[in-house]
Amino acid sequence: MLEKRLRELGQEHIARLLSSEGTTVSRGLITGDLEGVDLDLVDSLIRGKGLYDPPRGPVEPAEVIPSSFASSEEAKDAILHGEELLRGGKVAALVVAGGQGSRLGIEAPKGVVKVTPVRGKTLFHLFAEKILALARHYRCTIPWFIMTSRENDGSTREYFHRNGFFDLGEENVSFFVQGMLPSVTEEGRFIVAENGGLFMNPDGHGGTFKALRRSGALGRMKDLGIEEIFYYQVDNPLVKVCDPLFIGIHSMNKAQMSSKVVRKSSFEEKVGVIVRQGGRTCLLEYSDMKDEIRYARDASGGILYWAGNAAIHMIRRDFAEKITDQDTMLPYHRARKRITARDLDGRIMEINGIKFETFLFDALPLADRSMTIEVPREEEFAPVKNLTGVDSLESSRRLQSGLHGAWLRRLGVDTTEGVSVEISPLFALGFEELRLKADQLPRSVERDTYLG
Ligand code: UD1
Repeated sequence: MLEKRLRELGQEHIARLLSSEGTTVSRGLITGDLEGVDLDLVDSLIRGKGLYDPPRGPVEPAEVIPSSFASSEEAKDAILHGEELLRGGKVAALVVAGGQGSRLGIEAPKGVVKVTPVRGKTLFHLFAEKILALARHYRCTIPWFIMTSRENDGSTREYFHRNGFFDLGEENVSFFVQGMLPSVTEEGRFIVAENGGLFMNPDGHGGTFKALRRSGALGRMKDLGIEEIFYYQVDNPLVKVCDPLFIGIHSMNKAQMSSKVVRKSSFEEKVGVIVRQGGRTCLLEYSDMKDEIRYARDASGGILYWAGNAAIHMIRRDFAEKITDQDTMLPYHRARKRITARDLDGRIMEINGIKFETFLFDALPLADRSMTIEVPREEEFAPVKNLTGVDSLESSRRLQSGLHGAWLRRLGVDTTEGVSVEISPLFALGFEELRLKADQLPRSVERDTYLG
């Protein structure tokens, strides 16, 4: 059946591996790889259908609620509203963690990268503490959904088991696996991987919607009474998980999907930007952005499209349901990548391949209403993408320590330059909570210090 279908789709070379010509191992691997893969979809992507088409028509800067809003009277109402939803157990946290930490020098899920500046807690450990601190504060449960990939699902689950689910309770942490798609050659042929199976790539974080539905996680959210999903990427240790202000602004405005943005640090910074186009909010990804947008200047010569995507969103659960009910297809982005492949004679070689991925933020224009709020990047954005340099483990640790050091200084603590400071979320989730504990703080910090 599969063999016949592959022949029909012009993937003869793979069909042959499934026939008596292939080895048992290869047959098993290829059949497993293609299980659950929509071959018609892949075929239409190869033929150029369903691909991302950059939006046309005039682009305008997005309407953004400035970060100064946080200290306004109106913000208090939004915070109260967000807190009420948290107390009522109506908010879930969702992290996309399909990637591996290879660029950071570890062959393990990115979530187990040791990221904090003093204790070296992992990203997963840190997020777990943030969720635990909130759950204790609001006397509620915040179910945590973790999207893994086929590559790291087993090791992620094993990591949480080994660490006793960081006291969150196993029943409050759910894993679901994102989908995979075969990568193809420039000519649209499937690629045999080193192991004899197919070369597959994760289907991008846009696959979150499908994976939530297919795995039953979306149904579980409904059963738990979840109304709002706080979505974030595994690579940002400064994320304010389930920030009541963000939840409140999004929910009070009856938005279906909302975003946090940071002011771009340079024209070239590798972040997407949120814009308005055709009366809708949408995101232009940096890799797809035209230079006339990237380098556009405002009246004072600054960055016109400054609203950099922090990759933190609020998503109404019923919006995720609507998207998956109607099987709305997010557009697929096509990206080139170097692939280690095996040719039909078994030789291993490096070739140019193409992967297809969907991006979660392409759902923004499907939302009838969407709010965008600016947050100070030094407080909420320190992504870890590389080992050194920009957006690295090094820079992220420095930013985390810088923020915590600044909180201490505001409370009159002397801090020696060059020392690292880390404040556990279980000690204080933010400056306001730290202020309430001012009497427990040291007078000065002269060496690397952890407050837990
Ligand atoms: C991403 C955003 C960019 C944003 C920036 C902020 C995309 C395409 N772009 O860029 O707009 O400004 O972050 O830091 O996301 N992931 C999965 N499964 C996948 C693909 C990705 O779980 O199939 C997760 C990864 O674990 C990672 C995150 O999504 O945490 C981001 O993916 P990445 O490819 O690193 O995007 P960036 O180029 O960093």
